[in-house]
Amino acid sequence: MYNFEYKNPVKILFGKGQIAKLKDELPAGTKILMLYGGGSIFKNGVYNQVTEALTGFDVVEFGGIEPNPTYETSMEAVKVVKRENIGFLLSVGGGSVLDATKFIAAASLYEEGDPRDFLKPGKDKVPVQKALPLGSVLTLPATGSEMNGNSVISIRETTEKLAFGSLHVMPKFSVLDPETIFSLPDKQVANGVVDAFVHVIEQYLTFPVDSPLQDRQAEAVLLTLIEEGPKVLANRKDYNASANFMWSATIALNGLLGVGVPQDWATHGIGHELTAYHGIDHARTLAIVLPALMDVKRKQKEAKLLQYGERVWNIREGSVDERIDQAIRKTVEFFESVGIPTRLPDYGVTMDTIERIEKRFAARGTKLGERYDIDAAETRKILEKQL
Ligand code: NZQ
Ligand code: ZN
Repeated sequence: MYNFEYKNPVKILFGKGQIAKLKDELPAGTKILMLYGGGSIFKNGVYNQVTEALTGFDVVEFGGIEPNPTYETSMEAVKVVKRENIGFLLSVGGGSVLDATKFIAAASLYEEGDPRDFLKPGKDKVPVQKALPLGSVLTLPATGSEMNGNSVISIRETTEKLAFGSLHVMPKFSVLDPETIFSLPDKQVANGVVDAFVHVIEQYLTFPVDSPLQDRQAEAVLLTLIEEGPKVLANRKDYNASANFMWSATIALNGLLGVGVPQDWATHGIGHELTAYHGIDHARTLAIVLPALMDVKRKQKEAKLLQYGERVWNIREGSVDERIDQAIRKTVEFFESVGIPTRLPDYGVTMDTIERIEKRFAARGTKLGERYDIDAAETRKILEKQL
């Protein structure tokens, strides 16, 4: 196992009725900016629950944060933060609202330049040194953003989707009430299941470093998602399935599974480009990239692919290649069973986009994967498999 440092200061308030506890978590005497998305919180009662809990606090609202949140919208919120002298940010919504909130928290205190500095790819990235405190009420299990320091922001002007991470933007608390997800459309449930699934895979499907605990924890989350995801899809009012799904998605990316082991993140790196150029939902881009990446990297990932096949899908027979083929097939079948297509033509993506991504990665000198061996040319090879 590798050496590691792990710190996760996010307080989780999990379960029915927990939104009411917001009043105990928010700092008294501080002006709060409540941020939300396109309006789902008005339809499912979350807005009412939150505003009730905020009675007596000085609150300003900022709505309209879009899925795949943009730098441009976030900077509008930064203006409000400065104008209103905001001291605490409260995100109410899915991963997009929360990611934007994290960016706004850091951008509001950054005087040294353009906050796009935090998003720059590679060695030009400027680390976040300080940020306003923030908390979240999560309404969509998927990203793990509620218990990590990551944020992914799109820049409309340059058609880029870029990430940053910092301890400074980890939420002080996150409220996870499974009842808030009863209103999710099928598509968002499926997206959440697949996003969480691939988060686990990115920290698991690499090469062995003798880490049986992390491996089994990862497999536990994968198996739970495979079991509980379809239950949520079948019955949106199934509280226990919703709770298990929600907690699985948090555990999938709160950093714990990835400690002491190699991590991949190439599927995400390539997937973000498909969102940048085509606006395809994040999870759907992962469902396209992952099976092809497993195929192209089958030699480098052989031991873990066999372990994944055996422990997650019960694949025990056949040659090495046959077992890996089956593991890939099972993965594709799972994604498609929740309603997510895995081929590029399903999304209208053609060779043209693949070439643009190859060019962009070549210019950036991008090297992805646990061995940093997925470059522009190999990215092209991976994407071509899904044409
Ligand atoms: O905007 P509203 O009206 O709220 O509607 C949203 C949005 O249209 C809706 N929704 C959310 N909760 C709902 C609901 N509809 C009904 N009932 C509810 N309870 O769902 C739509 C999608 O929401 P969004 O927040 O975009 O989805 P998600 O949570 O999947 O977030 C995706 C974003 O997170 C980034 C992705 O790249 C993408 O930009 N990621 C963030 C990560 C992180 N911070 O660690 C890691 C991930 O890998 C991912 O990259
Ligand atoms: Zn993801």
